[in-house]
Parts: sequence; C-alpha cells; structure tokens
Amino acid sequence: MRIAVVRETAPGERRVALVPEVIRKLVSGGHQVAVERGAGAQAMIPDELFTEAGASIDEDPSALWGADVVVKVAPPSAEEIAHLNADSVLVGFLSPLTSSDTVTALAASGATGFALEAVPRISRAQSIDALSSQSNVAGYRAVLLGANLLGRFFPMLMTAAGTVRPAKVLVLGAGVAGLQAIATARRLGAVVQGFDVRAAVKEQVESLGATFLELDLGENDDAEGAGGYAKALSEDTQRRQQEALADAMTDVDVVITTALIPGRPAPLLVTEDAVARMKPGAVVVDLAAEAGGNCARSTPGETVVVDDVTVAAPFNLPSSMPEHASQLYARNIQSMLDLLCDDEGRLALDFDDEIVAGACVTRGGEVVHPGARATAGLPESAATQPASAS
Ligand code: NAI
Repeated sequence: MRIAVVRETAPGERRVALVPEVIRKLVSGGHQVAVERGAGAQAMIPDELFTEAGASIDEDPSALWGADVVVKVAPPSAEEIAHLNADSVLVGFLSPLTSSDTVTALAASGATGFALEAVPRISRAQSIDALSSQSNVAGYRAVLLGANLLGRFFPMLMTAAGTVRPAKVLVLGAGVAGLQAIATARRLGAVVQGFDVRAAVKEQVESLGATFLELDLGENDDAEGAGGYAKALSEDTQRRQQEALADAMTDVDVVITTALIPGRPAPLLVTEDAVARMKPGAVVVDLAAEAGGNCARSTPGETVVVDDVTVAAPFNLPSSMPEHASQLYARNIQSMLDLLCDDEGRLALDFDDEIVAGACVTRGGEVVHPGARATAGLPESAATQPASAS
C-alpha cells in the first residue's frame, strides 16, 4: 500500500500524522511511505529521520495526494480536497459533526474519508482512539498553562521563609482530558477537585487522589447519554449547576474546564458572576474554546484578564506539544491502517467491520456518516450505498 504523509497547512497546526518510529514499522510490513518535504519540521522531526526510517521525501502534490491512502492530522482545506478523487482514501480528523463544508466537499471529490473522531469508542478501537490520545496531551498541557499563569505555587512548601499552602485546582468535566488534568495537577502537588455530570466518573476522579465535587442538581444528577458521552442538561438544571459551581469556585486558584457534548456548543459552566466572585489572581483555563468555551469570559484563542482573573482559552493545545502528540497520533493512524488492509498489506476496505463503517464519513460521492449528514442538513440516509470500495 502506498501511504502519503502530507504537510499540515492549517494555521497553528504543528503535528504530523506519522513519525519515523511508526514509518519504520509500516515499511517493514511491506508498505511504501512518502512524506512531503518539511512535514515534520514543526514537530522538530527533520526530513532525514523520515528517510532513515525508510520513507521517501516528495514535493509533488499529485504524487502525494495520488497515494492509496493519504494520512493527515487537521481537516483538509478546500485546496487539499481538490487533489483528491474517487480512488482516494483519506484518514485524519475531519470534523464530521462541526464542519459540514469539509465533509460535503470531501464527498463531492468522490474520496473515501475516514474521520478519527467517528471511530466507535469500543475496546477493540482503543488503539485508534485519537480523540483520547490528543485529549491526554491537552489535559496535561492545560495544567502546565494554568500553573504558568498563576502567580502562586501548586505544591505546599515549608521553607525558612515561611509555609506556602498548596493551590486548589478544580477540574470541570472529567473525561479523558479532565482526568489527565486531575492527575497532572496532583503530581504538581495541588489539592484537586473534579466534577462531571456523569455520575460514573466519581470513582475515577477519586482513584486519582482528587475529591469529587458533589452538587445537588435534583433529578438530573446523572446525565450520561449514548456511547458514554454526556447529554445536554435542561435549562433549569444548567442554571442550578452554574450557581452551585460559582459558589464552589470562590476559593479556587485554578479552574480547568473540559466539558463537551459531541456536536453541540460547549455547555456554559463558568458564568460572568462566577468569574467576578473568584479570588484575585485566580486562573481559568478553558479547554472547550473550539466549541465556544465553557467560560462566559473566554475569548476563544486568547488569554485575557477580567476582574483580576486570568482566563485562557487556547485553541489546539495538543499542537503545542507536537512531538509526543504526533507520536501518539501516529500510533493511532498505524492501527487504523492495519484495519484498512488485508493480510498481504493491500488496501481492502471491509465495511462489515464496525470500526471501518463507523469511521467512514464519505464514500462513493456521498456523506455516509449519520451525524455528519444531520449537521450538513442532508436527509437521514445516503441515496446510494456503494459496494465495497476496496
Ligand atoms: P468529551 O470530550 O465529550 O467531554 C468531556 C467531559 O465533559 C465528559 O466527561 C462529559 O461528561 C463532561 N461534561 C459534559 N457536559 C458537562 C457539564 N454540563 N458539566 C460537567 N461536565 C460535563 O468526553 P471524552 O473525554 O471524549 O469522554 C467521553 C466518554 O467516552 C467517557 O465516558 C469516556 O470514559 C469514554 N471513553 C471510552 C473509550 C473507550 O471505551 N474506548 C475511550 C475514551 C473515552
């Protein structure tokens, strides 16, 4: 199978879809890998390391985009999609629930597109779960960012010059990013609380040495929905949650918010009033910036100071740690590629496989992912369901 790694062109994207270590394995498995010149530069991986791993370095877009499978990190731009045709297979983040333009353009190209966001979250798919691998990076990085912006220590210090009390950190949303944030803040010595609307998370929060913040939200105490994700709360419950959280945040040093509901705007957890009532010098790190933010005072993509509270709402935190983020992502891609080929290493798309079918968003000129169809305003099922496109 001919695999191409193209250079990322999205603003601020520093990751690369495959790293030399993974390329070496693919090449020893009989695949050919072409890497676009400079594709790893932003992740500090020079072209020579790709060559040493057995890849060829290429600059010709038609050679790269004409490979059997093109692998990428960020969703493709319109110009990139223009290089694709009905024989193309593209694997990467494709934003099926939030970027209908990308998905409809991809369908129009005829390409078969596999979105890593759409991989079903079943045990067999864990090694392909790029949402999790990148959320781990984001959760870790969010704590470092919060610690940097805070004019206080995280750990308790007992020195000749006096004793410093440990910082209090509250993590809202305890999915993959939130749990990693809790673990990281604990390692730095902070006193950590976690909160989530899914009751099942309490034990996980406690197993990391944090306490679970209990809020009395009435009948909707557990908002676990399909696939282990959270459901949106009713307006009344949401208001009660905001008020209870505002009370809980008055003596917290750093609040890290990670609450998301797939395909919907991020829930508002930290109101203007809550920020106004926080201690001067406190920090909010809002990881939901791409979905509009969990904090009313967030300016997505920026760090601002409001009411003496620093509010950071960075975009794409995994890209700020490109080397390890790319390494983990590359392993996800490798596992996905394994699934897309037969025992002889030839491309063989088995749409009877739950993961292959679930991750496929475009095929045979159609948007085939139900969520992506709904986002694009298309009727429930595709007009044609083409036979296997292997
Ligand atoms: P996510 O990124 O969609 O959301 C982050 C967190 O925000 C979730 O824990 C969610 O419950 C929480 N949240 C949503 N609305 C909230 C609100 N109003 N207040 C407080 N918290 C709120 O979630 P992520 O990290 O993608 O994980 C979602 C689920 O998928 C989890 O149950 C996780 O354990 C599960 N999962 C399963 C995997 C597998 O079986 N292979 C792999 C990874 C995750």
